[in-house]
Amino acid sequence: SWTAESFIESTIEEIRDRVGDDRVLCGLSGGVDSTVVATLVHKAIGDQLQCIFVDNGLLRKNEFRDVLDVYEKDLNLPVKGIDASELFLSRLKGIFDPEEKRKIIGNTFIDVFDEAISEDKSFKYLAQGTLYPDVIESISFKGPSATIKSHHNVGGLPEEMNLDLVEPVRELFKDEVRNVGRKLGIPEHFIKRHPFPGPGLGIRVISDITKKKLDMLREADDIFISELRNNDLYHKVWQALVVLLPVQSVGVMGDERTYEYTAALRAVTSVDGMTADWAHLPHPFLAKVSNRIINEVRGINRVAYDISSKPPSTIEWE
Ligand code: XMP
Repeated sequence: SWTAESFIESTIEEIRDRVGDDRVLCGLSGGVDSTVVATLVHKAIGDQLQCIFVDNGLLRKNEFRDVLDVYEKDLNLPVKGIDASELFLSRLKGIFDPEEKRKIIGNTFIDVFDEAISEDKSFKYLAQGTLYPDVIESISFKGPSATIKSHHNVGGLPEEMNLDLVEPVRELFKDEVRNVGRKLGIPEHFIKRHPFPGPGLGIRVISDITKKKLDMLREADDIFISELRNNDLYHKVWQALVVLLPVQSVGVMGDERTYEYTAALRAVTSVDGMTADWAHLPHPFLAKVSNRIINEVRGINRVAYDISSKPPSTIEWE
């Protein structure tokens, strides 16, 4: 029967056999999946692994530094942090369509990787944290014309990159990956972090993305997430997020009329993200988060709570 220990043992051996003396590049996203993959590969081949963690300008507040710290100090991974936020944001300027955003973000990641590879031609493999649900969704949600969301970058590697994929967790579900991560010594607070999409806040600023909107969203998100943690609710939901809507509405602040943006809070319960229910968070809690966001985040004067389930809605809004 399947255990995390036996999975780790056999996977490390498989990676060793396959990779031999070659070098592996791994993109870290700050999530559990890629961190587990990097740690497995590191255990298998040591410093033949090189990790890259890219700041795409679409990360949460303080995320780049905090996560880099965990990689370097807690996990001793060979990681290089690359600030590519200006490149990402300039390419996303004026883009409204969610799939277009995903394409641009995905391609820009590839370009940043390409540059890393061209500086060092010895890489033969690319390690990725593809999960089983990613594989399934990318197959079964193909409609007559196109996929519903082109997410998870399954098979998204362009031919010209000339790297072979190493995807050691592609047969696992999220909870299995978490168990593997625990056994690998990844800190518990990191293991139990909510999933976070590759395109990051780029698909949570609805319609066009600006630095100003991203900063508002980062502040609102930070309030929601830290209140969830402080009220022992963070681990009771599967994922929680804030969406910045492009809708402006009228409000009053003191004697002033305001005309500002709306934040939508979303929290869901789920097992694997394939289906989800909206989380019935206590009203006093929602009231507190709403008050804090409206009082503390300049540019937001209205907060809504999303009560849709998946299906037919999705977890993200884009
Ligand atoms: P949806 O919105 O499809 O999300 O119900 C299901 C889960 O997948 C995450 N998600 C993504 N992850 N790239 C990713 O790596 C993406 O483009 C993407 N879109 C959605 C979402 O956060 C949720 O956990």
